Amino acid sequence: MIDFQSVLTAINEAASNEKERGEIADYIPELAKVDVNNFGIHLIDSQQNDYAAGDSNELFSIQSISKVLTLSMALSLIGENVWERVDVEPSGDPFNHLSLLELENGIPRNPLINPGAIVIADILVSQLENPKEDFLTYVKNIANDNTINYDETVALSEKKTGFRNFAAANLLKSYGNLNNEVDVVLDFYFHQCSLAMNCAQLTHIFYVFMNHGKCRRNKSYLTLSQVKRINAIMLTCGFYDEAGEFAFEVGLPGKSGVGGGIVALLPNKFCVATWSPGLNAKGNSKLGMLALEKLTTDTELSIF
Ligand code: DON
Repeated sequence: MIDFQSVLTAINEAASNEKERGEIADYIPELAKVDVNNFGIHLIDSQQNDYAAGDSNELFSIQSISKVLTLSMALSLIGENVWERVDVEPSGDPFNHLSLLELENGIPRNPLINPGAIVIADILVSQLENPKEDFLTYVKNIANDNTINYDETVALSEKKTGFRNFAAANLLKSYGNLNNEVDVVLDFYFHQCSLAMNCAQLTHIFYVFMNHGKCRRNKSYLTLSQVKRINAIMLTCGFYDEAGEFAFEVGLPGKSGVGGGIVALLPNKFCVATWSPGLNAKGNSKLGMLALEKLTTDTELSIF
């Protein structure tokens, strides 16, 4: 039996000794206010035992991690029709690049880069009666946690500075791959990205992807085939132009966000989330990557 608590405590100690902590994202001004010295890690195993170390109960902005949750909701609403509007290939480009979108006639490479996530947001805006409210309820239900909420200040901060996302949405619209108004879709998108969670809450939600589509209360949210697809997309596209490096170093499907969170999972075994707001040059948490590399190396657990 692996002593996960000792492993997490050691990872937290190693993180606190790290001098080079990366750069805080400041293109969303509100995110720049966070202290770079935070580090937290939480792991839930398949028996629903929780282990934690560091600032694992501090709330942070989950940002792009939310793209996995909107994809999950869209898949359960319209099934395989999702793939008519977004592809499933890694882009090898940064999350906010637009060049491939034009080259490929408005079909985003995958649902985890910004243009792809904006198409998924458009699907939810079309499908849901009260999109922001209904998506939040979906997330709260999977987590079995009513305290989760949007951070309106972060959403507004991104709305004021999200010029590239406005460009992406307009480009999608010009190709006929956005059915709703740009402002409406981006309002939803900026809100999903602003969701505030801690490491514990993130693992309690992503538990569903390590547990055959069933949440901690054993309610089913996804079919086995949908879980396979989501985990495959996380593995190949979850870290943008660093997806290869993450698979190489860590060996788990996962997803990062510019708020400094990373969540990753080993099907049937565990789900883990880290938070350290300093990012590397590719926009992924610097210490989070190191921590997860240490976790899978020390425990010798990975999908490979
Ligand atoms: O759209 C954006 O730029 C942000 N709301 C989310 C980007 C993000 O988290 C990329 N992940 N590492």
